[in-house]
Parts: sequence; structure tokens; C-alpha cells
Amino acid sequence: MIRLAPSILSADFSRIGDAVRMAEDAGADMIHLDIMDGHFVPNLTLGPQAVASIKKTTQLPIDVHLMVEKPGFFIPLFHEAGADWISIHVEASTHLHRDISLIKELGRKAGIALNPATPIHLLNDILKDLDYILIMSVNPGFGGQKFIDSTHQRIRQLRSWISGQNLSIPIEVDGGINPANAENLIRDGAEILVVGASIFAAEDPVRVISRLKEIMAKENRP
Ligand code: DX5
Ligand code: ZN
Repeated sequence: MIRLAPSILSADFSRIGDAVRMAEDAGADMIHLDIMDGHFVPNLTLGPQAVASIKKTTQLPIDVHLMVEKPGFFIPLFHEAGADWISIHVEASTHLHRDISLIKELGRKAGIALNPATPIHLLNDILKDLDYILIMSVNPGFGGQKFIDSTHQRIRQLRSWISGQNLSIPIEVDGGINPANAENLIRDGAEILVVGASIFAAEDPVRVISRLKEIMAKENRP
């Protein structure tokens, strides 16, 4: 199943509830929330209190992308705030197995995010424990950046590696995605598309979501 996860990073932060409701009504499958700490990435965004408020505005699963140092400290806080999916960066976690185990013990979906230049094979010894993998297609920190083309190749390699191990782990892709590159990403093997600026900076966000959902419906695999 191919899923659309709008990232509200490029929405008007004074009206986040409206943005989330619009995305849900237009057909989004989950809501992607970018948590930035000003250390792992040079930007600051939402804390657990904001996530808990956003959670109340939607029935959709909340996908929390932790771009923070020491993710182990933050996992329980965002679990408490209502995160359904939690991803941590491989580059930020000193105790990857411990952090992933913690997310799973808390009953949430556990994912690892990789920056664009991080080798995918770093996941070798933890692959089978993962509920999803988040491939960054921009350098994390800001919305509205240009998609890095080598991501296509990385997704194809990761998809064939996962299948070769007889595993079924969805690949989420995040950064610079729009209706023009979505189709190829799905063909590469991506199953969750995170889309920020091309929805929320558009004149007609509902139309962009509809267009993306049309592309996904066409490419949807059983
Ligand atoms: C970047 C974030 C992304 C971002 C994607 O650090 O992780 O989720 O919001 O936004 P666009 O689609 O604008 O690149
Ligand atoms: Zn993100």
C-alpha cells in the first residue's frame, strides 16, 4: 500500500490544526511531524506539547520524525504526546538497538532515518527489527529543498536488499517530493511519500494532494 504523509513544516504554524484537517479531508494517510532540536539540525520546530495538541485534531496516525541528538531521551515524551510512528536518525543514536527496542516496547512503529550520504548497509544488524526505514532525499533541517537525484538509486538498492532477506519493510522517502517525481519513487520501491512544501506552499493544496493520491492509486501494489 502506498501512503501519503503530508509534512506540516511548510504550513502556517499559527493555523496548524486547519492544515492538518485540510490534509485529512483531502485524503492524506498519515501526518508527518518534523521534530528538530537546533543541534542535530540547524532548526527548531515542535515539542511534545505541540504534538499532543495536533494529535487531538486528527484521526490519522501521527508520524514523528525525530531530528534530534540523544533520541532515547525524547522517545518517551513523544510517545506520551501521541506519536504512532517514531523514527530516529542512525547518525544521532549512539545506542540504536536500545532506542529501537524502546519504541517497540512502547507499542509504536519504529523506524530509522538515514541522511542522503549515510550508507544503507549501516542497517545490516538491525534491519529485521525495523517497522520502516526513512530515506532522506534532502539534507534534513528545512522544508522546500531540492530533491537529491541519487535517492532513486538508494531506494532501489534498499528495496532489493530488503526483499532479498525475505523481509517486508516499508520505505518512507522525505524531502523535495512533488507530483513530478512521485511516480518514479513509487516504482523504485518507496511506499510512504512525505510531502511538505509542494502541498502547503501551493496555491491549492487540496488539488496537489488529490494529484498525488491519483498517482498513488495508479501505482498501488497489492
Ligand atoms: C526536512 C523534513 C521534511 C520536510 C519535507 O528536514 O524532514 O519532512 O518537511 O518537506 P519538503 O517536501 O518541503 O521537502
Ligand atoms: Zn521529515
